[in-house]
Amino acid sequence: MLSSKVRKIISILSVILITSVIGTGCSVSNKLKNQTSSDLQKLSISEFEKDHGSNLDNISYYKYTGNVTIGFAMDSLKEERWQKDRDIFLAKAKELNANVRVTEADGDASIQISQAEELISQGVNVLVIIPVNGEASSEIVKKAHEAGVKVLSYDRLIKNSDLDYYISFDNEKVGELQGEALMKAVPNGNIAYVGGSPTDNNALLFRKGSMEAISGGLNSNQLHVVMDKYSTDWKPDEAYKNVKEMLATNKDNIKGIICANDGTASGAIQALKEVGLDGKIPVTGQDADLGALQRIAEGKQLMTVYKPVQAIAQKAVEMAVNIAENKPVETGSTVANGSKNVNSLLLKPIVVTKDNIKDTVVKDGWQTESDIYKNVK
Ligand code: BGC
Repeated sequence: MLSSKVRKIISILSVILITSVIGTGCSVSNKLKNQTSSDLQKLSISEFEKDHGSNLDNISYYKYTGNVTIGFAMDSLKEERWQKDRDIFLAKAKELNANVRVTEADGDASIQISQAEELISQGVNVLVIIPVNGEASSEIVKKAHEAGVKVLSYDRLIKNSDLDYYISFDNEKVGELQGEALMKAVPNGNIAYVGGSPTDNNALLFRKGSMEAISGGLNSNQLHVVMDKYSTDWKPDEAYKNVKEMLATNKDNIKGIICANDGTASGAIQALKEVGLDGKIPVTGQDADLGALQRIAEGKQLMTVYKPVQAIAQKAVEMAVNIAENKPVETGSTVANGSKNVNSLLLKPIVVTKDNIKDTVVKDGWQTESDIYKNVK
């Protein structure tokens, strides 16, 4: 953990960094201009960086021509999806002429809080936060409100705060889809649950949804959960370690594993592989990472849940711009965050199995067929 002094130094350096990278957005490439919105997600980060001359060390500033500046405080870019969230977010902001300052906290909640403070002091008009820690980030809402800045919680809910808006997917449904798929493949026997980060509200909802979906099997004693553990910071390594430990005693009688996302699934499948069980034990996932889609195509992973990132990222930018301009924001539902019902827009997750890869992720341009089937003869 970084000491507060070191964090302070990082903060000061970040401010210097922001001011030194301003004014990089004039080189608008024709490639970007000519792209339809559905093509934008195919843009690689390096292409985006080339086009925008950005600096991704700590805080990056994407300057377009409008008056609105969005502060986008991300948890990390570790999972493949977050890179796409960022790229699509920036592309949409460009389309709407909104400037964006992006920060990435590398999974550290206190770094994220100081980064958000910096964004506020730099005068962003609205904050979009992917919280590292759902509880701790309530501090960000407080600080933002003191400065008159509204907050949109992105994908993960900021709990116990006067949060202004929330955009996400139906996360309990994500867990349900995982549980249903596993129970269909494994109607009885021993199973394990590999969860995400216990400080991420989504991880709690995924688990809740899965447990509800398999409750019939649990109540009738047909299914038994032999391991049920969260994975700190969503670390695949921790998932690997926990599954490895579980296999030490259950290698011969484990029938299936519900993993909360594709990262943890990769850890679980590695542990299964080491005892010769990969491809034999159904494993669930989430995010439609390329690696997971390849495993599904090869029969090594049962399913994943695809959450159209294009939809959430684009919609979030539209909402953020409207929030900043004090225009009406359509949401459609509310989600209780412990202190209020937050106006929320919840999008629909989609199951991907080997039977519908082409009709879902390929059709949507999320991943290409040739990449997904690369290892399949
Ligand atoms: C997101 C997942 C992601 C996980 C780890 C969750 O909050 O909803 O899509 O895999 O965080 O980053």
